[in-house]
Amino acid sequence: AALKSIARREDLKTYVERTPELYMLLQQAASRYVTGETRQEGVAASRRLAAEGYKISIEYIGENTTDADECEAAAAEMKALIQDLGRAGLPARVSFDLSHIGLSLDKELAYSHLMDVAAYAGTVETEMELFISMEESSKTEEILSVYARAAASYSNIGITLQAHLNRTKQDLEALAASPRRIRIVKGAYQEPEDRAIPRSSALNERYLELVESAIRQGHHVSIATHDEGIVDEGLKSRWLAYGNAEFEMLYGIRPELGSKLKAAGHPVRIYLPYGHEWYLYLCHRIAEYPPNLYRAVIDIVSK
Ligand code: FDA
Repeated sequence: AALKSIARREDLKTYVERTPELYMLLQQAASRYVTGETRQEGVAASRRLAAEGYKISIEYIGENTTDADECEAAAAEMKALIQDLGRAGLPARVSFDLSHIGLSLDKELAYSHLMDVAAYAGTVETEMELFISMEESSKTEEILSVYARAAASYSNIGITLQAHLNRTKQDLEALAASPRRIRIVKGAYQEPEDRAIPRSSALNERYLELVESAIRQGHHVSIATHDEGIVDEGLKSRWLAYGNAEFEMLYGIRPELGSKLKAAGHPVRIYLPYGHEWYLYLCHRIAEYPPNLYRAVIDIVSK
């Protein structure tokens, strides 16, 4: 939690931005997880990974935007990304936080930007999915309601559900009526004890149950984890034989696992983030898995 709050400390961010040596060192550490600052770098990395046989998820990094112009700029960037991916002939999943395009100001703003981007996605030649990330539990209700309204008009909009939240089983049941695109993750945010369970075998069991039910309900399911135990269980349970599931992993995390699964013929999607907010993203990855701090130091001294 302490590491996570570092990401939101504007004073530290400003200090990093004003200290060129520190900025460059941290940027080097971030390059393990972030494809670059620009859309061109994100699309180039997508092209490379697609050529290796991976499916693509891509995110323009950002969250909790409280300036309406910045929300609009983020939505415009998503459209430009969709255009560039289409021109490159790449089908892709564009992932994003609703709080990057307006949720922190007004959920109607987020909804209208999402509808605008979804309409645009329908105009490009390659198949585009728009995938909503799940944020802190204080936002779950609003995110699900924006998702439900938008998904009623566009079938290519997907939603992420967090296994660690106690409410998720009911949220999944509420989506059972029609097949959707669902990503299941363990959950990256620190939550109050009465709302979520921590990393544990109980969480892993719950994760497996959620994936199993989602697949049986006929959703297209993204098994978004780097947990080899869960992956092995998925392979043993022959989830992928249903034809509506795939693995999805973050760029730079357990790449050997993704590569092994791909070599065995399983569908694997890699989630590639890009953007000038790489500092925020690096802090999230370290907070989620503190040994990454050690890895970041090694990355810095070895370059
Ligand atoms: P777990 O955390 O138990 O880790 C299992 C193993 O994976 C570790 O032992 C380690 O080997 C490796 N590992 C995991 N994280 C690592 C890291 N950061 N660095 C290096 N190794 C690591 N969360 C959320 O709340 N909302 C969201 O919308 C999303 N979206 C999302 C999309 C995709 C495609 C993925 C893969 C993940 C997310 N997440 C997310 C993050 C998710 O909730 C979770 O925090 C991470 O996936 C880590 O959890 P694991 O399932 O990998 O298991």
